[in-house]
Amino acid sequence: MKKKILIISGGISKERLISLETGLQVAKELRKHFYDVKISEPDNNLEKTIKIFKPDVIFNALHGQFGEDGYIQTILERFKIPYTHSGVIPSAIAMDKEISKKLFIKYKINTPKFFTYSFDKNNSKLVKVINKKLKFPVVVKPLNEGSSVNVFICNRKNIFKILNSLKNYKKVIVEEFIGGREIQVAILGNKKLGAIELKPKRKFYDYQAKYNTNAKTQHIIKINLPKKKLDEVLEIAHKAHKIIRCRGVTRSDFKYFKGKFFLLEINTQPGMTKLSLVPEIAAHHGMSFLQLIEWIIKDASTKR
Ligand SMILES: Nc1ncnc2c1ncn2[C@@H]1O[C@H](COP(=O)(O)OP(=O)(O)O)[C@@H](O)[C@H]1O
Ligand SMILES: [Mg+2]
Repeated sequence: MKKKILIISGGISKERLISLETGLQVAKELRKHFYDVKISEPDNNLEKTIKIFKPDVIFNALHGQFGEDGYIQTILERFKIPYTHSGVIPSAIAMDKEISKKLFIKYKINTPKFFTYSFDKNNSKLVKVINKKLKFPVVVKPLNEGSSVNVFICNRKNIFKILNSLKNYKKVIVEEFIGGREIQVAILGNKKLGAIELKPKRKFYDYQAKYNTNAKTQHIIKINLPKKKLDEVLEIAHKAHKIIRCRGVTRSDFKYFKGKFFLLEINTQPGMTKLSLVPEIAAHHGMSFLQLIEWIIKDASTKR
């Protein structure tokens, strides 16, 4: 008998639509191969659904807040049913760009210089501090979003207007802008699966560049990098995966500038549609979409 899989997707984050797509595509692939699959929202009915359906494995297809940040993982822990991807603490740490960047620094992983900007503090010296510590342009981004939601490249002229539009966040990250190339690495447990380069036609790899095919971001799976450099970035992603104690699949996002890699973040719930980056990297290394999903399911655990 094939396993019973409960896929949780949707949710309340700004990445709800992407998550629904991930959930649908994973379900479709599994059903094609005779798995008994059910899809559920992470809502008040979840507990009832789990009790009635009695899945062998819960596949977490959520992205962003409540799905990628330890909250849903805390709920899933109660059922003692293996669930996919990272556990409570790694999810919470990876989702918080301030905490994860501090860990990268502690473990000597290069990450763009940054500080946090709190909306409830006096920030009259902001421009001065940026000029001294980072220089314009800077990147302003929330601590805990994904998919480039509310990520902005700011100059001296527009920074206050942009910050003003982000007031609903308690604090945001103000980060040194790194030019150069965009490279992302997929890790599967202990395996350094591979990397992909993205060449957005837009100003940067923003939401449109990620999901709107009309934006025509180029995906380069055969990255033009010396083997030594490619090994280096795979090693950094693997190290980040390990120090945060992630489980299953992660995708680390890098900028590569003047021979140096800068780790922007590690994603514990990377997109998993057929057109997403991790499946594309997997396919290039001979792992089909089904094999990738089955690997993730097999890796699911109650022990973390
Ligand atoms: N410091 C930076 N310098 C240059 N580009 C950046 C920087 N930070 C973010 N970006 C751009 O914004 C995108 C999204 O940023 P990232 O930190 O990965 O957040 P998210 O969680 O939204 O994906 C990156 O893929 C990159 O194109
Ligand atoms: Mg990213």
